[in-house]
Amino acid sequence: MTKQQTNNPLILSTWSFAPVGADAAMPLLLAGGEALDAAIGAVTVIEDDPTIHSVGVGGLPDAEGRVSLDACVMENPDRCGAVCNVQRHPNPAAIARRVMDTTIHITLAGDEADDFATREGFVERALLTPDAQREWQTWRHDPSNINREKYQGWLPPMNVEEMDSKVGAPGGVFAGDGPDGSHDTVGVLVLDTHGKIAGACSTSGMAFKVPGRVGDSPIIGQGLYVDQTAGAACATGTGELISGVCGSFLVVELMRRGASPLEAIRETLQRIIDRFTLVQDHQVAMLAMTPTGDWASCAIRPGFHHTVTTSEGSKVEDPHGVMLPE
Ligand code: GLY
Repeated sequence: MTKQQTNNPLILSTWSFAPVGADAAMPLLLAGGEALDAAIGAVTVIEDDPTIHSVGVGGLPDAEGRVSLDACVMENPDRCGAVCNVQRHPNPAAIARRVMDTTIHITLAGDEADDFATREGFVERALLTPDAQREWQTWRHDPSNINREKYQGWLPPMNVEEMDSKVGAPGGVFAGDGPDGSHDTVGVLVLDTHGKIAGACSTSGMAFKVPGRVGDSPIIGQGLYVDQTAGAACATGTGELISGVCGSFLVVELMRRGASPLEAIRETLQRIIDRFTLVQDHQVAMLAMTPTGDWASCAIRPGFHHTVTTSEGSKVEDPHGVMLPE
């Protein structure tokens, strides 16, 4: 576990792609800005980066080639918002905040979430980049993918000529959603100079998912949970595993009962290991922070890195623990 100096702002993020967002958000905190603004600011930069294939613009699409985005933001049980299956707007975390600020609801989903965003002045944008479309084509061309049991029976027949005519021959190899070299949900936890904590979580979800699938990321208590009286946690990795144990809520509740951030994550990941039959590409990693900024990260498998950002800049580091190192 790592201790934070009082009043020093801190941004913790999942994955090594996070410095681009966290470095942009840190000046806001150093100027006395609020944790939630910084969390959403960091995530928004990452959502706008088309080279990150798991969040926002450039995210890998579902099995039918459509990109859909999920996100949530949170300060407290009575201060949270979420959107699921957004297909026309690049910044779901900011839309989630607008849901929180301007409606009596917590979560909006699907076309209606996009309609809400348009009414609120968010600009529509195509989310599928040529790179992501090529990755999808490669996946659709590979019989070992499309013949997998989970896709049989509903995946529409592939019209290879039509796909090729859109973007040319498939190229490039997607590394997969596995533990090595993967990029996944961005989860950000922030402590501001006023001693307030907040978080944001954003994803394009599992690559080539069944259309309509929603993972853990936009669900309060699964991909993210924050309570000023107990702490904050966020998750990345295979959403179904995180959802099944309400991962982020569990971590925060364990901290409320006295566990350290690392103990709380370890117990939560052990629950996943005990209650699921894990396969090789299953991975979950989590970050946790106390209300005073003590924090830790831990993953089920090797390959995960977190980014820690202070007034001195960002560092990409190994997690404090790995549950299944081999
Ligand atoms: N953790 C992201 C997802 O499964 O959608």
